[in-house]
Amino acid sequence: MSMDSKVKWAVTERYSRLAKELAVLNESQGCCGGSCGDDSCCDSNYSAEELGQIGLGESVSLGCGNPTALAELKPGEVVLDLGSGAGLDVLLSARRVSPGGHAYGLDMTDEMLELANRNRERAGVENATFLKGSIEEIPLPEASVDVVISNCVINLAEDKSAVIREAHRVLRPGGRFAVADMVELEALSADVKKRLDSWAGCIAGTIPIDDYRAKLEAAGFVDVDFEVHSTQQLPGTGKVGSAYIRARRG
Ligand SMILES: C[S@@+](CC[C@H](N)C(=O)[O-])C[C@H]1O[C@@H](n2cnc3c(N)ncnc32)[C@H](O)[C@@H]1O
Repeated sequence: MSMDSKVKWAVTERYSRLAKELAVLNESQGCCGGSCGDDSCCDSNYSAEELGQIGLGESVSLGCGNPTALAELKPGEVVLDLGSGAGLDVLLSARRVSPGGHAYGLDMTDEMLELANRNRERAGVENATFLKGSIEEIPLPEASVDVVISNCVINLAEDKSAVIREAHRVLRPGGRFAVADMVELEALSADVKKRLDSWAGCIAGTIPIDDYRAKLEAAGFVDVDFEVHSTQQLPGTGKVGSAYIRARRG
């Protein structure tokens, strides 16, 4: 099996299992499902008011921030969430772009898609659609989206350049990239970088901010900005952080 296939297998296996747990548990996981340290990584990212609007708890989030807070969504816009998990950010976005707008969630894990569709029905949100597919090959036409959001997912992809090129392709000129993701702040050991469980837990697949920025600029994004909002020192092996990443399709 190639490294890419092994990573996909490990990520799918982890998030199929977490989807089943989320469906029955009302327990907060956060940050990719429990990889938080002793710092602020697990602080609440959503207000009680916005969660109340869609009848969901933060327990369904496996993210590392709230990309809907930086996306400045407006009625009528089309939003795409890369790796939408249980659907929290899609459902919040759908409300913000209403009337006239639509929110798409894209995920490769069947169990997550089932859970997201159940959450959509429960929330009574009609302008949201969950698509099955890979974020490296987005099943939407070119220049069809106003805003790409994502929450703690791009670090999980083996080929991050492909994901970023695809985000650029589907965005309309001037479209916004508003993403929460984990980044590598101090080099992790080669041993940790090789571990599939650590990759699926949003640690091993992280890359330094300079590399992330270079990939965004190579794809044609402009006004690229990173804001690290919490950090996690890993015992004996480097440091990662949660960052808000903003950019615009030029
Ligand atoms: C850490 S969870 C985050 C879920 C959601 N964004 C949230 O904040 O709760 C990662 C999600 O991304 C999905 N995912 C990971 N890699 C993917 C890929 N290459 N293509 C599509 N979905 C992917 C997983 O199935 C999982 O649902």
